[in-house]
Amino acid sequence: MSTPNAILQIDGQTIELPTMQGSLGPDVIDTRTLGGQGYFTYDPGFLSTASCSSNITYIDGDEGLLYHRGYPIEQLAEQSDFLETAYLLWHGELPNGDQKRDFDNMVSHHSMLHDQMLSLFKGFRRDAHPMAVMVSIIGAMAAFYPESADVDDPHQREISMFRLLAKVPTVAAWSYKYNKGEPFIYPQNHMSYAENFLHMLHANPCETYTPNPVLARALDRIFILHADHEQNASTSTVRMAGSSYANPFACIAAGTACLWGPLHGGANESALAMLAEIGDVSRIGEFVDRAKDKTSGFRLMGFGHRVYKNMDPRAAIMRQTCHEVLDELGLHDDPLFKMALKLEQIALEDEYFIEKKLYPNVDFYSGIVLRALGIPTSMFTAIFALARTAGWIAQWNEMIVSPGHKIARPRQLYTGSQRREFAPVEQR
Ligand code: CMC
Repeated sequence: MSTPNAILQIDGQTIELPTMQGSLGPDVIDTRTLGGQGYFTYDPGFLSTASCSSNITYIDGDEGLLYHRGYPIEQLAEQSDFLETAYLLWHGELPNGDQKRDFDNMVSHHSMLHDQMLSLFKGFRRDAHPMAVMVSIIGAMAAFYPESADVDDPHQREISMFRLLAKVPTVAAWSYKYNKGEPFIYPQNHMSYAENFLHMLHANPCETYTPNPVLARALDRIFILHADHEQNASTSTVRMAGSSYANPFACIAAGTACLWGPLHGGANESALAMLAEIGDVSRIGEFVDRAKDKTSGFRLMGFGHRVYKNMDPRAAIMRQTCHEVLDELGLHDDPLFKMALKLEQIALEDEYFIEKKLYPNVDFYSGIVLRALGIPTSMFTAIFALARTAGWIAQWNEMIVSPGHKIARPRQLYTGSQRREFAPVEQR
């Protein structure tokens, strides 16, 4: 179905701009020809800009819907597993039994790191943040697989994507082991993706560690919930870096760096720190008041979202996962979880949060689950990066193969000095 053109009237000129219709969601105005007519659009932070077209993920922020390739996140979280979801993001369809076995097998057989990477880990200070280590080691993989730079070759793209999906958990787990001063634990091919990760984190050579299946399932669900989220800051960073045909490992390192920030993937770490700082249910009101006071510079971490103006569907699943994990561990009275539930209730009844449509996001409850799984706070964002790698590689691949590919090159509204003449230093 064709959509009507948009008419822009400016300075006596009438400019017609075509509109485009997606399969779901609002139409977009195609402004690509506007630059040639002397104007740019101005949209810092991409509040109203579709930076690409994509078949992978759809979000309806008003309704609180999240679909991957058309499948609602609730169904994937309940019935799928992380690697199957990664396959779906990548290939567009769910795998059949053979495809699923082959995919899982490929991932588990690429999980070991090149032995020389050990010396990279050992170059870091012991207290290096796992995200700093991950950004470096993921980027350094480009040096170990130089053939991956041939991004036009589908085979090279595919093998790089497998390597990333398979090795990032090992990088994340080893960055933690290095912090702890414990020996690196090698991946176990017979374990599931989440079990293997728990094993690499918690096992040590002196005793047997058997992952608890309920906890491994909960971690796998966290991976599914974080796997992709359309054109968020880190995914857009991956696409932007990849738009120059840079090496895929470098692109994923760029996405990892962007995710690190507290307004993005770092929020789960900050949300848990905030709950610990609140300390007691009786102090929630005080913190809610601080969050409403613009001069305080304080925000309720784990609340609000650029796209969701309704409950983040991932937060609701995460709340339920919280119940399951705490029940399994006999921690029904976990004080942080009780405080989180109360804070959510108070905030959702507060006029400020209602008016601004601020609801809990995925990071509000994920920290509590991760903590219950024995995962230290410093690893929270690393786990987000591990899971988001599935989305990043799918989005990167989609961008590379899209017809009419162009390097990302935004323009600007220049507000600096006009031309002036250089004065030698003694005349200034
Ligand atoms: N607590 C208090 N006020 C808030 C909060 C919050 N968490 N979030 C937004 N606001 C207010 C904000 O002050 C602004 O008020 P006003 O219109 O009066 O200036 C209004 O709500 C809109 O906020 P914004 O910063 O313009 O919205 P944004 O879309 O640019 O930012 C956000 C979205 C997620 C960065 C922001 O809500 C935030 O900082 N939240 C806390 C950090 C967080 O939880 N981040 C995780 C996001 S979900 C995981 C991910 O995708 O990475």
